[in-house]
Amino acid sequence: MSFKIQILPGERAFEANPNETLLDAALRQGIDLPHGCRNGRCGSCIVKLQRGDISYPSGLIEALEGKPAGTCLTCQAVAHSDLAIEIPPRQRASEIEVRTLPCRLERKEPLNQEVMRLWLKPPEQQPFEFLAGQYLSLLLPDGREGAYSIASPPHEKALIELHIRRAPESDFARFLCDGLAERSILSIRGPLGSAHLREDSERPLILVGGGTGFAPLKSLIEHAIHIGLARPIELYWGVKARRDLYLADRPARWTDQLDDFRFTPVLSDPDPDWSGRIGLVHEAVIEDHPDLGGFAIYLSGPPAMAKAARAAFASRGAERDQMFSDAFTGGSDDDWGGI
Ligand code: FES
Repeated sequence: MSFKIQILPGERAFEANPNETLLDAALRQGIDLPHGCRNGRCGSCIVKLQRGDISYPSGLIEALEGKPAGTCLTCQAVAHSDLAIEIPPRQRASEIEVRTLPCRLERKEPLNQEVMRLWLKPPEQQPFEFLAGQYLSLLLPDGREGAYSIASPPHEKALIELHIRRAPESDFARFLCDGLAERSILSIRGPLGSAHLREDSERPLILVGGGTGFAPLKSLIEHAIHIGLARPIELYWGVKARRDLYLADRPARWTDQLDDFRFTPVLSDPDPDWSGRIGLVHEAVIEDHPDLGGFAIYLSGPPAMAKAARAAFASRGAERDQMFSDAFTGGSDDDWGGI
């Protein structure tokens, strides 16, 4: 006999046996509930019990002290009936503790001649929690450090994806791309940044990326798909030439997966046969949207691009508190970019 556990909001559900915790049951069925320590202490797995009966056979409920009735620790709770649980959306970066974790460079994959994709594996018992659009700091054993946006969405916990541009002027970025061997151990510190997706807004989204500034926008879009975000999303990606549009299959896939998604690549140094948009990416946004009032705008790219875009968008009615970008430097100034 098993119980049906419905996850609110949304349509997702899973089955839990009477002798397994809700978290174990969810993970066993590929459902990613928020969690951390898995031993009843950190509180990362707290959800709201909307309906049904549970108990805590282990007695490990330290994280429930002082919490209101209806609070449920999924890493310790077992079901005694069908349940409805509500996952509180994490809306603020401050809700997630910034930690330093060891991780392994699981694999490297060139995305084009300049950009390397790095897959980092954090410890299984210490999943790295973050919000879509945030970044992290990479720390090498010799003390060198650089910040990079996270390209994978928060629900994909096994591996963290980064896009590193092999900037000629950055020893650090070149070492990550060409010197650091797969299986190397390094550390990450994060999550960092406050320009993450605001899920409680109703505003249509405009995402504007330059170069590897595509990375956090990818995380944001894949998170939006995961949670069933029903808001129009427009992605503008500015690069020099067509060869810089790496992961070229993704926008078409996102178009299929989202109800209202539009992708506009913009080339500043176009190939002779390019028939798409040309020029600066923020100018393409303005051409399409002379009035930017009412949008939530996420920016990611080199500082000059972000600065010019913010000023231009504000002059077209974009509210300053609805333009989100984090300033940090990765391997080089040109490689800057969170959202
Ligand atoms: S995962 Fe830490 S208390 Fe449940």
